[in-house]
Amino acid sequence: MLPPPAWPLLWLGLVLGSCCADLEAAAQVNSSTDARNVLLIIVDDLRPSLGCYGDKLVKSPNIDQLASHSLLFQNAFAQQAVCAPSRVSFLTGRRPDTTRLYDFNSYWRVHSGNFSTLPQYFKENGYVTLSVGKVFHPGISSNHSDDSPYSWSFPPYHPSSEKYENTKTCRGQDGELHANLICPVDMADVPEGTLPDKQSTEEAIRLLEKMKTSASPFFLAVGYHKPHIPFRYPKEFQKLYPLENITLAPDPEVPDSLPAVAYNPWMDIRQREDVQALNISVPYGPIPVDFQRKIRQSYFASVSYLDTQVGRLLSALDDLQLANSTIIALTSDHGWALGEHGEWAKYSNFDVTTRVPLMFYVPGRTTSFLEAGEMLFPYLDPFDSASELMEPAFMFSMNLL
Ligand SMILES: *[C@@H]1O[C@H](CO)[C@@H](O)[C@H](O)[C@H]1NC(C)=O
Ligand SMILES: *[C@@H]1O[C@H](CO)[C@@H](O)[C@H](O)[C@H]1NC(C)=O
Ligand SMILES: *[C@@H]1O[C@H](CO)[C@@H](O)[C@H](O)[C@H]1NC(C)=O
Ligand SMILES: *[C@@H]1O[C@H](CO)[C@@H](O)[C@H](O)[C@H]1NC(C)=O
Ligand SMILES: *[C@@H]1O[C@H](CO)[C@@H](O)[C@H](O)[C@H]1NC(C)=O
Ligand SMILES: *[C@@H]1O[C@H](CO)[C@@H](O)[C@H](O)[C@H]1NC(C)=O
Repeated sequence: MLPPPAWPLLWLGLVLGSCCADLEAAAQVNSSTDARNVLLIIVDDLRPSLGCYGDKLVKSPNIDQLASHSLLFQNAFAQQAVCAPSRVSFLTGRRPDTTRLYDFNSYWRVHSGNFSTLPQYFKENGYVTLSVGKVFHPGISSNHSDDSPYSWSFPPYHPSSEKYENTKTCRGQDGELHANLICPVDMADVPEGTLPDKQSTEEAIRLLEKMKTSASPFFLAVGYHKPHIPFRYPKEFQKLYPLENITLAPDPEVPDSLPAVAYNPWMDIRQREDVQALNISVPYGPIPVDFQRKIRQSYFASVSYLDTQVGRLLSALDDLQLANSTIIALTSDHGWALGEHGEWAKYSNFDVTTRVPLMFYVPGRTTSFLEAGEMLFPYLDPFDSASELMEPAFMFSMNLL
């Protein structure tokens, strides 16, 4: 499939096209009562392995529910399957050729051009703009400040437990702690007793509560870390995916005629202790089949954990009666190969790494306006068999757009 040529521009156009009239009105009269808020949810390394994209195995009832009220894009592609270039691209609405960022090592404002960002545009038009978690890629590519103060009204929030992501916090079969790729944890056993995405959800809800009574509309960006590696998630989510039900990639072989330049040797997962112990041959592997199943199991479990965080956030939006006045966009910076073509990484240009979920909920447009007391986003528990009601087939028939 060929990616459409100008995704970030088109995307920016769609967002602004949907709400620009409101924005202008807010800026002119400064009566924010009619201006819509914006909630932008950015997930890290999430391919469209979701019920709403037809995945039969993955349990993602909350994102599926959002999709059922949204305009859902089937062929959305990242500009590049690397976090920083992709994020800088869609947050500035410019291609990597223009931002001149293909890696992690430069800040566009000094390296290529002083381009405005999407949140900056809202900020300059009367919005309070807020960043929670990983929105810009950290480091020099956002000037070690998530592009503050240009993009954000307040200093961005980062969860305190993020610093443990790559440390030895995974309890191995030997009872010791390791820095593993596959890291289902007992919440009671991890430092600070919490995980980054859980903290980000709590902070985002706290901000929504504050903004509920604000005179200005808000633009809140929430960046989730999972399913980015390591697969560090509450261990109960593994139960959703019994190993015997996990299939392998349908095309697990490195293609014979593949030019070396098109292949990425997945060095980031090789550094993890559990992967190192397997002595996997560089660059092509393969990874033993039982470990392939475990990687896929943990990616899907991470997606379901992420889905519960999105569910908590959206149900809070409902409870605060903000769902009728808030545009919601959900996307990811790029995908991740789960064994297709012998790959276990982002970085390549195969569909599995470049294709992303993309959906827009616009109250009064993708759904009718809410009636008094109506809830659009009740929290759905992936462990609850009642959420089978939210089956993809049912969802698609609900999706009128
Ligand atoms: C870059 O843009 C920002 C925000 O529009 C502005 O405050 C700043 O002065 C600009 N910097 C340069 C070097 O032009
Ligand atoms: C609207 O409010 C913004 C931010 O508070 C302010 O900068 C702007 O000048 C106001 N516009 C008008 C037309 O009052
Ligand atoms: C980047 O951050 C540094 C340190 O805070 C600051 O001095 C510099 O002005 C920032 N660059 C831009 C373009 O704002
Ligand atoms: C696993 O597969 C079996 C056999 O197809 C099925 O009955 C069961 O519901 C599956 N379990 C889960 C959790 O999907
Ligand atoms: C990996 O290599 C080490 C050192 O050569 C060896 O002790 C270990 O048994 C090997 N592990 C596997 C899974 O082959
Ligand atoms: C939702 O918004 C519309 C348009 O602003 C309004 O007519 C309707 O009363 C609102 N519904 C609720 C429950 O506030």
